[in-house]
Amino acid sequence: MRERSEINKDLELCDQEILKLLKKRFGYVEELTENIKAFDLPVLQPEQDKVGFKKLVSAIGDNPYGEELQSVFQQIEMAGKRVKSRNLFDFNIALIGFMGAGKSTVSRYLKHKLAMDEVDVDSVIVKDQNMPIKDIFAQFGEEYFRDCESKAIIKLQSLRQTIISCGGGAVVREENVANLKKTSCIVLLTASPETVLERVKGSDERPILNGNMNVAFIKELMEKRAELYRKAADVMIETDHKSVEQICEELLKALIRLER
Ligand code: S3P
Repeated sequence: MRERSEINKDLELCDQEILKLLKKRFGYVEELTENIKAFDLPVLQPEQDKVGFKKLVSAIGDNPYGEELQSVFQQIEMAGKRVKSRNLFDFNIALIGFMGAGKSTVSRYLKHKLAMDEVDVDSVIVKDQNMPIKDIFAQFGEEYFRDCESKAIIKLQSLRQTIISCGGGAVVREENVANLKKTSCIVLLTASPETVLERVKGSDERPILNGNMNVAFIKELMEKRAELYRKAADVMIETDHKSVEQICEELLKALIRLER
């Protein structure tokens, strides 16, 4: 049997090798992102991701450390995605747009694909106030809710590499837009009133729409806010009849173009 100190030395050598390879791997990720930017290539590669994962699983094979190896590689993949997103753009993405425009869906997808952090402004308010949005509206009124919203947006200013999903009315106060712009690029998601109605009609969590769940009301409020949305946006993406993957690809491309 070998001496303990000798085995420890081998373990240290292994770590050095792993470190060298990881640095090399992150370097390749950077090279890939430079490629994406230079040749205007698709940012997301869902097919390649699947192929890569399959190859990895088969390389791990029937191994006594199978579970541990898969978990290590998941971490490596996440770290790679973070290197990728940081290289693509070094700012937060603030998603704005009418209720039902797809902000939460897009945010979840981007978080998964780019390993960015994700914050929902409404959720911050719910946590701070310890009550659901509809109860805040019912007990204290809309102005109080808007004050909470402004405070929540200020609170998020220290975040980096984060997707900030804003409530549909966040743009009604200019100060919110100004505060978001300090650390974020603002992406406006749009959808037709008909699409919005389809997406929100099953929920009673949006007090502004309760009792107003129809195309005419949605259209009118959307038109009232349209100019505010447009003025706030650095990038605008239509979401009607598109998959979340298509929307996110368009959005990321537009953000990269902004960076240039
Ligand atoms: C609101 C939109 C809601 C929420 C609140 C008010 C609005 O967020 O902030 O009910 O005024 O448009 P979502 O856009 O995420 O539904």
